[in-house]
Amino acid sequence: MAYQNDFGYNFGRLYPNFFEEAIKMEDKIYINDDTKYVQKEFSRFAKDYQHYNAIQKEIAKLLVEQIREDRVSTILDIGSGDGTLYQAIKDKNIDISHYYAMDFSTNMLQLHPSNSNITKIESNFNDISWREQLPIDSIDIVISSSALQWANSFDSLLRDIVGIGGSIYLALFTSNTFKTIHLLANTKSPITSRDEIVKAISNIDKKLHYKSKEYRVYFNSNQELFKYIKHSGISGGKNRLSYKEIKALIKSYPLNYLEFEVIFISDKEFLSI
Ligand SMILES: C[S@@+](CC[C@H](N)C(=O)[O-])C[C@H]1O[C@@H](n2cnc3c(N)ncnc32)[C@H](O)[C@@H]1O
Repeated sequence: MAYQNDFGYNFGRLYPNFFEEAIKMEDKIYINDDTKYVQKEFSRFAKDYQHYNAIQKEIAKLLVEQIREDRVSTILDIGSGDGTLYQAIKDKNIDISHYYAMDFSTNMLQLHPSNSNITKIESNFNDISWREQLPIDSIDIVISSSALQWANSFDSLLRDIVGIGGSIYLALFTSNTFKTIHLLANTKSPITSRDEIVKAISNIDKKLHYKSKEYRVYFNSNQELFKYIKHSGISGGKNRLSYKEIKALIKSYPLNYLEFEVIFISDKEFLSI
């Protein structure tokens, strides 16, 4: 499994195996977003997520590689989903004193590992009160991967995260993700733009480091490519393209890969990005 980054280094190809089924008549691709819709989609496709999250796993692994803490830490994972980050943290043998897995999708949280060191918190990071259910003072590390692109206001969410006071390790997609699709369909990405993210970082008093990285995921056919978008929970949105529009898009899509842009943010210098 490999990918290509924005500096043009070819690390090989990441081919998900989705040969079985083409997009069906009733399938819809969603291009714009509202929070309720995102919540429904993550719950609807929670089971599929674990088969379609190769790129999120790569991102989580790279993010966890940046963690410097060598003491037992209390960790808050925002938008924890099925526990991809928790698994990456365990794989790196980072000592966890307690793990708070926060997500607004019941179905995703059900897939998250459970044990006496893990507290699952069902909460929406777009609600002003999202921090109230958390023991803020005891948190050493705030981490989040592939989730914060759904923030209604990344600026205020970032302020809240910095306000917690722990070390910060974040990775989120930017609106350059699926950029050729948005260009062809003449749609606006529902997720936060790189400019908004960089502006939010510059508004914060604390020094935050950031780096962006482009990924490509390759497919054997355009049908597989569009099926991937549907099942990975990264499309989001309430404005649907009609079957006819999707069909035209599938036909005209000129690339054999999907484009992703991810921005990594930390209060520590990056070790390996
Ligand atoms: C693409 S998944 C990433 C999951 C996991 N962090 C990973 O790296 O694989 C995004 C997760 O963010 C959650 N999410 C999206 N918007 C949210 C919100 N407003 N509040 C809480 N969780 C949210 C979704 O339910 C989903 O589990």
